Amino acid sequence: MSSPTHTAVDAPVALVTGSSQRLGAHIVSTLHARGMRVVVHYRQSAEAARALCAGLESTRPGSTLQVEGDLADAATPAKIIEAIRTHWGRLDVLINNAALFHPTPLAESTVEQWDEMNNVNLRAPYFLAQAALPLLQAQGGNLINIVDVYAERPKPRFAIYCAAKAGLVGLTRALARELAPAIRVNAIAPGAILWSTETSGADQQAILAKTPLGRLGSLEDISRAVCYLLDAPYITGQVMNVDGGRSIFD
Ligand SMILES: NC(=O)c1ccc[n+]([C@@H]2O[C@H](COP(=O)([O-])OP(=O)(O)OC[C@H]3O[C@@H](n4cnc5c(N)ncnc54)[C@H](OP(=O)(O)O)[C@@H]3O)[C@@H](O)[C@H]2O)c1
Repeated sequence: MSSPTHTAVDAPVALVTGSSQRLGAHIVSTLHARGMRVVVHYRQSAEAARALCAGLESTRPGSTLQVEGDLADAATPAKIIEAIRTHWGRLDVLINNAALFHPTPLAESTVEQWDEMNNVNLRAPYFLAQAALPLLQAQGGNLINIVDVYAERPKPRFAIYCAAKAGLVGLTRALARELAPAIRVNAIAPGAILWSTETSGADQQAILAKTPLGRLGSLEDISRAVCYLLDAPYITGQVMNVDGGRSIFD
């Protein structure tokens, strides 16, 4: 992909899950600015999704689609892809971005928490890829999973989140082999980009102290990595750390 030369009727289509706000919204806006049609998926944040799409539509009418769906529900991945197939009949890029992030200390965690975290962060990306397979194959598409540096260097009290993200790294590599050469599959592992409400001020300082570049990453840092992977036809099965060097810290 290069400049936004496509018209809305034949432009490639990207689905970014959990994209009404924060990282997902920035990725959607970046791909839209490059001429793509975009699917904004959300669960609870309907107003944010509506506002994001209204802004994008004002620059290119007919270039967005909003799809609601709870990814903890096993039926949702197929429904999302069917909505895209019905509306546009095409999908070029699937970005699994939606995720749950909260602590689950071993002594207190429940089977329900295990199931919900794994269903949203790991099962849903797999079955979205399955449902999207015919559409992605038809376009020689791209699949990008947003993982986390915590997949390789786990965060205490977040074992279920870390395990689910580690599973998504494994899925990335396995599907890259299974779907080559038609579809490339890669992952991006952000370090600290936007603080979560789960991260205390003391935790924030500790994280920055272990980040060689000494600062938070930006939304642009992640969107730039997405664009790089989309433009890199000889890269598949890789995990790109976008973490200010945190993954090489002792
Ligand atoms: N923020 C960071 O610094 C950072 C660092 C490392 C990795 N990451 C990864 O980067 C990605 C984006 O991060 P973020 O901080 O922007 O994420 P976030 O705000 O915590 O979550 C993104 C979206 O996920 C959606 N979501 C959660 N549960 C869902 C469910 N059951 N069904 C459907 N959607 C659901 C939510 O949609 P609704 O609001 O519509 O419910 C939410 O807006 C995530 O995969 C995260 O693990 C982020």
